[in-house]
Amino acid sequence: MRIVSGIQTTGNLHLGNYLGAIRNWVAMQDAMGPSDDCLFFLADLHALTLHQEPASLASATIEMAATLMAAGIDTDRAILFNQARVPAHSELCWLLGGTARMGWLNRMTQWKDKAGKNREGASVGLFTYPVLQAADVLVYQATHVPVGEDQKQHLELARDIATKFNLDFNVELFPLPEPIIPAEAPRIMSLRDGTAKMSKSDPSDMSRINLIDEDDLIASKVKKAKTDPEPLPETIEGLADRPEARNLVTIYAALEGRTPADVLAEFTGQGFGAFKPRLADLTVAKIGPIRDKLTALLADRGEVAALLRKGAAKAQALAAPTLRAAQDSMGLQVD
Ligand code: TYM
Repeated sequence: MRIVSGIQTTGNLHLGNYLGAIRNWVAMQDAMGPSDDCLFFLADLHALTLHQEPASLASATIEMAATLMAAGIDTDRAILFNQARVPAHSELCWLLGGTARMGWLNRMTQWKDKAGKNREGASVGLFTYPVLQAADVLVYQATHVPVGEDQKQHLELARDIATKFNLDFNVELFPLPEPIIPAEAPRIMSLRDGTAKMSKSDPSDMSRINLIDEDDLIASKVKKAKTDPEPLPETIEGLADRPEARNLVTIYAALEGRTPADVLAEFTGQGFGAFKPRLADLTVAKIGPIRDKLTALLADRGEVAALLRKGAAKAQALAAPTLRAAQDSMGLQVD
């Protein structure tokens, strides 16, 4: 197995990233066998598709790397690096630009959401973003990609690109990467709007729980989360038209590793006045220790940077043969 996944270096990591992806990365790393590889990277090149302040980008890269380590990524077992340090990602991205179709990219919901009505004013990078994402996984011949549900469409595109490339150049170079999406926490929603996903780019900090938040702040965000006055129903069907209530139950279940049905069985008939303090305590108990480790790791940013450099060297070595095979199959003269 070759497990590959990335995270964009904008803003702070939040509970959605943790429950939707990072926790799964750690589980896959912990379960990996001697012939498997796990590669996790900070997608700093993807961040550039929207304007970033250079100093913020640089510090976000280090802070996110430290957050991943605090959450359980072990740089002795997994390869942790930032995308910009491994030029093979960008090089393969260009090669795949001849394979990807405009129509495929036009259908990407993230492109439609982020570009909004102003497509003419959106950056070219925002449009071609999924091609770089395809290169990120294909350059390692990834077999498994642990992501949250919102990245499923991008992964399907990577599979389409891989299939067409293999066909067009008559090679069996790229295996089709399999998305691995956690069943119990597919999509964590905003605490202010149960129909929008929890996101780093939401202007309201109250909409998300960041992995760096202090305990008091976590508790107050949970207590101020939008809900409704109804008590919790008996079954999850009863949450169908209550997106905010459903989101809090999903978060509770995911944090405790239970099913939402099981959580409802415990809280049926109780209102949010009773449920929220329990959820606040649980969130603090799970996130607090990660934040404390993160704070300790950030005391030596130079050490975090050194670990990223080492990871990049290992990643580049794994990427080089695939990039070369792609270049050869296309007739490029590179030596
Ligand atoms: P990003 O940085 O938005 O998110 C990183 C991971 O967290 C998951 N996630 C969520 N899961 C559940 N609920 C949420 N509210 C939530 N928000 C984020 C995402 O699904 C993702 O797994 N384009 C990617 C980064 C990327 C990548 C890749 C991923 C670049 N190259 C190659 C996989 C493989 C992104 O912006 O994720």
